[in-house]
Amino acid sequence: MIEPTADPNKASSGSQVDFDPLVPDTERDPHALYREMRKHCPVSHSDRFGGFWALTKFDDVYRVLTESATFITSVQNIIPKIAFTGRRPPLHLDPPEHTLYRRVLNPLMSQARVTAAEPVVRTYAKTCLEPMLESGRGDFSIQFASNFPVMSFANFLNISAETMAQVQEEFISFNVAIKDNDPDGMKSASLALYDITRELIANRERNPQDESIDPATALLAARVNGQPLPREMVVGTLRQVLLVGIVAPRFVLGSFAVHLANDIQLQDELRQRPERIPAAVEELLRLYSPYRGFARTANRDVEFRGCPIKKDEPIAMIFTSANRDEDVFEAPDEFRWDRTARHLAFGLGPHQCPGAAWARMELKVALEELLAATLSFSLDGPVDMTRWPEFGPESVPISLVRANGR
Ligand code: HEM
Repeated sequence: MIEPTADPNKASSGSQVDFDPLVPDTERDPHALYREMRKHCPVSHSDRFGGFWALTKFDDVYRVLTESATFITSVQNIIPKIAFTGRRPPLHLDPPEHTLYRRVLNPLMSQARVTAAEPVVRTYAKTCLEPMLESGRGDFSIQFASNFPVMSFANFLNISAETMAQVQEEFISFNVAIKDNDPDGMKSASLALYDITRELIANRERNPQDESIDPATALLAARVNGQPLPREMVVGTLRQVLLVGIVAPRFVLGSFAVHLANDIQLQDELRQRPERIPAAVEELLRLYSPYRGFARTANRDVEFRGCPIKKDEPIAMIFTSANRDEDVFEAPDEFRWDRTARHLAFGLGPHQCPGAAWARMELKVALEELLAATLSFSLDGPVDMTRWPEFGPESVPISLVRANGR
């Protein structure tokens, strides 16, 4: 299936289908495939989704992320391109326009805000674990990883559990439609999310909240040269933010559970030394980076490893692969405590994830609570994986032994 791009001109014509992003994953794959791609075809082309390039090496992904004047997001920021609604800052904008929106969003996601939210987020983790602890088994992805980040994100967005439940419902429909390659389904779910957003903004216009913690109020209050941000861009930003915080944590948490279920020694080590959990979160984020479809478009002809990519051709950054690049990470498939190279799970450059502190707190709290509440847990059935553009499990059946007194 993978052919080296030995003749770059041939490869750039798109006549070779080197890479099919829709091959179903298993618990171990697509890492085996990405390993082969890094070795034989690090810059590969796919005819799927109208044709795109896939970068699998760390240095190439790093270059695209950091050369933001050449590799822009305003044409498309994800593969497949979903283009029936308006532009949604910040992901769909390039600097300097992009910067205006990050200036509003960044303080809402500050470390101080994250630290203040941690105790309440911890109560959500306990609530979401309880049903599985009670019955001694459950589906970690469905019962915990799909709910805990949603509750926590409702808190971040300062919205009610009911509104967040509506968001989650539409998100599930949207995800199913992406997997089924169903443009009508994607469109109707996306438009429904716009309706929820418009309602929320209208509500905040009538009842402004504390703008240091309420994203909708902060966006409405922002001024550039004394002028408010354009109304449709305020709607677009909030619509963007409504989803970003629940997609990745769900898949990452599922992957964390699978890894720990398969590594009892690490489970026990972290139970005994919970102060090591933040370091474990970093290494697990590297191993199980959930994104592989974030994209850029080159605004001029470029070359990667001798392979020409033409202006306007879409390029996917396969974080899932880049973070296991053997040229940067020795024994890349192993969990190691002594890594010095930094992973790219949160991206880099102008679009680097502003929610990283929030995400790290959530992941740490989830592991702390799961490990403290159990003596052990293990897999209790087959793991079911999601498909492109995310990476991670949809279903992780586990059995758990409850810790004394929990
Ligand atoms: C494990 C969890 C998460 C991971 C791995 C992750 C990863 C990423 C990555 C790789 C990007 C950059 C995409 C690109 O360069 O095209 C990004 C952007 C973004 N993330 Fe996250 N994210 C996570 C959780 C969150 C959370 C919890 C929030 C909100 C609280 C959030 C908010 C955002 C926003 C708003 C952007 C767009 C930034 C921009 O375009 O300037 N993310 N994230």
